[in-house]
Order: sequence, then structure tokens, then C-alpha cells
Amino acid sequence: MALQLMTARLILEDLTEEDLPNIQKIARNPDLMRYVLIWLEDDEQIARFLQRGIEEANKTDRTSFMLSARVLETGEFGGLTFLEIDPEIPTTGEVGIILLPEYQASGYGKEILMKYMEFGFDTLSLHRVFGKCDALNSASARLMEQCGMTYEGTIREHVWLRDHWRSTRYYGMLAEEYAARKK
Ligand SMILES: CC(C)(COP(=O)(O)OP(=O)(O)OC[C@H]1O[C@@H](n2cnc3c(N)ncnc32)[C@H](O)[C@@H]1OP(=O)(O)O)[C@@H](O)C(=O)NCCC(=O)NCCS
Repeated sequence: MALQLMTARLILEDLTEEDLPNIQKIARNPDLMRYVLIWLEDDEQIARFLQRGIEEANKTDRTSFMLSARVLETGEFGGLTFLEIDPEIPTTGEVGIILLPEYQASGYGKEILMKYMEFGFDTLSLHRVFGKCDALNSASARLMEQCGMTYEGTIREHVWLRDHWRSTRYYGMLAEEYAARKK
């Protein structure tokens, strides 16, 4: 059954074929993609990415949740989000968020990340939820800090990301920390 997660102002739901222009809009904006470690460089990669999202949504033992974020009031597409669990490490989930420019810096990122933590810990019983960002991406780092994640460390210049060597900062929350925050 299709997954839907609700935040105060957004609905997060499974990708469909109709999301192709939405993914294209994200992928074809170099400013938006500057710090994003996902390869959507051409039509083929975009189509493959979307197809994978749709296929994962249909699996029964699901470890990948690639969800669009739509504004509740208008139904407009605001961005792409995901929670991915490495099947080899099923107790940990990684969260990622890419919002279209017009939906950034309005608190949507915080709503999404908090919802994924709730989903990861309360529904999927994960032990750790983490996010990672380019060391140059201060908005992303700030978001994870604001949501109570702990900075875990940086892997230095481990990958060439389009126009620069990317260093990656890791942020994580553990189940016990999440539970303590809720008290
Ligand atoms: C990174 C991103 C997901 C953050 O989401 P957002 O909705 O813009 O962030 P929010 O509005 O919820 O703000 C969260 C915190 O980050 C801060 N922030 C938001 N945009 C910022 C910016 N451009 N620079 C610095 N801080 C910023 C906010 O002030 C807020 O902190 P505060 O509560 O102390 O004020 C979003 O900006 C985005 O999609 N960026 C482009 C794609 C990307 O780089 N994704 C991350 C890949 S790892």
C-alpha cells in the first residue's frame, strides 16, 4: 500500500511516474544540486532514479523510502526526500532532503527531518538515524543541528562532486536520545 506521512504543512508520499517532471526540475538546477551526492546528470539517470523509487515502493520488505514532499494546502510538489536503510545494516537509516528553492528556509526541512525521525524510530524501530552533508552546505548542517542530531565527524575530500572535492559531515540521532527528547 502506498505510504503517506503527514507533517503540519506537508504530505510525504511515494513517487509515481507523474513525478518525472518534478525530478527533472530538481536535477536540472545546478545550484540546487551543488551539494547533493546523487547522480542525476542526464535523462537516463533521472529515469533510472525514479524507476528505482517506484520499484522500492512496491516491495513488501521495504528498506528504501523515496517520497515526494507536497504542500498540503495546494498539492504542489516542494521537493524530494528519502529514508534509506542499508539492508546489510538494517538498524540504521539515512535521511536526505532536497527542496525546490521556493520552498527552502521556511521550516519545511525541519518538519520533514523530524517526521522521518519519528517514522524511523517509532514505526521502523531503528537504532540510529543519520544524515550527511557537504561540509560547504551550511543550511543542511544547521538543519540537522536544529533537529537535535549530534555531529559525528567529517570524512575529508572523499569524492569529486561535479566541481569540487567533497568533504562530508555526518550527523546522527540514536533511539535512546530520541526517546529522551520526547519526555
Ligand atoms: C538543506 C535544506 C534541506 C534545508 O531545509 P530548509 O527547509 O531550507 O531548512 P529550514 O527552513 O527547516 O531551516 C532549518 C535551519 O537551517 C537554517 N537555514 C535554512 N536555510 C539556510 C541557509 N541557506 N543558510 C544557513 N542556514 C539556513 C534555518 O535558519 C534553520 O535554523 P534556525 O532554526 O536556527 O533558524 C534545503 O535548504 C535544501 O533543500 N537545500 C538544497 C538541497 C540540499 O543541499 N539538500 C541537502 C543535501 S545533503
